[in-house]
Amino acid sequence: MSKIEALNLIGNTPMVHLKTLDPKPGVEIYAKLEFLNPTGSYKDRIIQYMVKKGVETGKINSNTTLVEGSSGNTGASVSMVASSMGLKSIIFVPDKCSDEKVAIIRSYGAEVIVIPTPESYEDAAANKAKEHENYYHINQYNSQLNPEAHYMTTGKEIWDDMNGNIDAFVATASTGGAISGIAKRLKENDPNIKIILADPEGSVYKPYFEGKEDYLSYKKPFKVEGAGKGAIVDAMNFKILDDAISFNDENAISMVHRLARQEGLMVGGSSGGNVWAALHIAKRMEAPAKIVTVVPDSGFKYMSKIFNPKWLNEVGLGHLAAD
Ligand SMILES: Cc1ncc(COP(=O)(O)O)c(C=O)c1O
Repeated sequence: MSKIEALNLIGNTPMVHLKTLDPKPGVEIYAKLEFLNPTGSYKDRIIQYMVKKGVETGKINSNTTLVEGSSGNTGASVSMVASSMGLKSIIFVPDKCSDEKVAIIRSYGAEVIVIPTPESYEDAAANKAKEHENYYHINQYNSQLNPEAHYMTTGKEIWDDMNGNIDAFVATASTGGAISGIAKRLKENDPNIKIILADPEGSVYKPYFEGKEDYLSYKKPFKVEGAGKGAIVDAMNFKILDDAISFNDENAISMVHRLARQEGLMVGGSSGGNVWAALHIAKRMEAPAKIVTVVPDSGFKYMSKIFNPKWLNEVGLGHLAAD
């Protein structure tokens, strides 16, 4: 009998052609289904990679407690990887994190601490990590191991999945690890591939990329989880971007509903933003063209929000409830 551990199930996710979305013949949109990783998001990749590096360099041992700040998905990955290696974990999440995500992190075994807005859950994690020598701060927002993990795995897989036939890659960024690592791999293999950031309105990334000096003044609240950021972080490489486009909560959430109904794909809000932006780019392209994006996490993590008419009403998107 084969012995397969959960940690060996990370990565090698499928790439699908979103056939119902192609805007014209010969212009095709593809999405890599990262919700098929064990905890339902591509954050499993970075945590597996970072913890492996930590063990190799002697920074993580059997007495280590992993500490991290996370909008939810990384926390689940840290909690899962820690438990499956016999380690403890402490996760700080913002209060905007969906109830499902908090429950998932707890269920894998971590201690979860919810930080009220506008306090920083990242600072809370960084401060906690200083409290004890056995605490190891994953630090996804600033560690270069984060983009490196995507360079070594996701980016390589995307190139192989598409046999190198890619015209543009489009994705949101929060830590920036995914887009930076994937883009580095794709540009190394073919410098003509265009890398486009999809940024939620209210994130400072697009205005920063466009050189706006007052980029911080663009910060405002938005509902989509895991996309965009209110500050510039080290894991994000702006130099690798060719362009940036913005989307709003309505664009992303209506696309999430459309993907469920038309493509049979149950995805999260940032995936909706990614695919909405990919379609926006695709409409501007001449055939033949292949536009690639990722589905970072599962819609099952947002049943109380994106798929809940009551929540949609509360946030002024009640008209999407009938989608
Ligand atoms: C659902 C979701 N989408 C997108 C992202 C963005 O990925 P990255 O942090 O690699 O930029 C995250 C990260 O927090 C996420 O949780």
